[in-house]
Amino acid sequence: MPPVEIKPNIHWIGVNDRTTDLFEGLWPITQEGVSYNAYLINDEKKAIVDLAKALKTDEFFDQLDHVIDISQLDYVIVNHMEPDHSGILRTLLRIAPQVTILGTEKTRDMLDSFYGIREGVRVVQDGETLSLGQHELTFVYTPFVHWPETMMTYESSEQILFSCDAFGSYGALRGAIFDDDCTSQAFYTQQALRYYVNIVSVFSKPVLKAIEKLADVPVSIIAPSHGLIWRKSPERIIELYKKWAEYANEPGEIGITMLYGSMYGNTEKMMNAVAHGISQEGVPLDIFDVTHTHVSYMMPALWTQRGIVVGAPTYEGSLFPPMAEVLNMAKYKRIRNKSVARFGSYGWSGGAQRHFENLIEPLQWNLTDSFEFVGSPSDAELEQGEKFGAEFARLIKESP
Ligand code: FEO
Repeated sequence: MPPVEIKPNIHWIGVNDRTTDLFEGLWPITQEGVSYNAYLINDEKKAIVDLAKALKTDEFFDQLDHVIDISQLDYVIVNHMEPDHSGILRTLLRIAPQVTILGTEKTRDMLDSFYGIREGVRVVQDGETLSLGQHELTFVYTPFVHWPETMMTYESSEQILFSCDAFGSYGALRGAIFDDDCTSQAFYTQQALRYYVNIVSVFSKPVLKAIEKLADVPVSIIAPSHGLIWRKSPERIIELYKKWAEYANEPGEIGITMLYGSMYGNTEKMMNAVAHGISQEGVPLDIFDVTHTHVSYMMPALWTQRGIVVGAPTYEGSLFPPMAEVLNMAKYKRIRNKSVARFGSYGWSGGAQRHFENLIEPLQWNLTDSFEFVGSPSDAELEQGEKFGAEFARLIKESP
């Protein structure tokens, strides 16, 4: 995709990444891809806001070449040091040693520890402004959105907030870069939530602080470093972010996420009965087979919905291992304030329930009900499962 002029002399010079399979080496993006959005302000002084992953070095420089000669570049603003935004920095400095890098104090330290860069770095303070000629930039510290060094950059004449990870999403850009000319907005919104829960959610408190800090700043365009640029409805993505961040301390929406795993189909049989009971109560339900689905796709449902049903058998005296892994990730991501119920089969002595209760203890989930059955469920047990589902759904529906 060629560069796009967002406003006079302010250009999107980002690149799409459809090659990386795992974002952060952890989160699948094979299907979705991701964009590394970077921005060039082509004024008397010329500045780039954020860069791209090293993998995309050539493509990034091609983008830049479309607009200016790199020898003219004055500043690189490093809003965030994570290598998906800074990976090409060392190469850039070899080609353009005249460039001054701007960032926070912590950025200065990380530039040294990540890349051995000590020269040509200038620390900017929170609230400091920089005039490029016709454009004035203000640096706003937003620590832990996503790393401790993170800041945002605000351009005041066009009211553009370069927000880096905040308000961003997975999903390579499909030709359109703006919310108002994109026909797949629902996809990016969904991927913004997945990105939020996978990458940012542990820092929900700093996210809310940042939103509060920026509350009086007039913003016409949100220009994040991943995904769509929000120029028609910047308030929409801010509201969504606020809602998602608040879920860190709230049970979430009325809805149930059913996680299940099954070795020979017995727990799956029961899962269908429980799902039937839930559906009879009209409560939204998402179902994930934990063996075949990457946890990254389950996280948004777990984060946003207040009810969780775990269906998993005993495996060698413990909970079915793929389920234990999901619960472990839920602990990492601090998914709290949920109500949970569990069912599962066992072959002889059981053990999954005890293991399950140990796993959810640090999550502080409210265990409302559990039942187990031996081997294959009988008709009577399937009926019990249906009632179990309906009862849990009613509890979720009626929970304050
Ligand atoms: Fe897009 Fe925290 O990096």
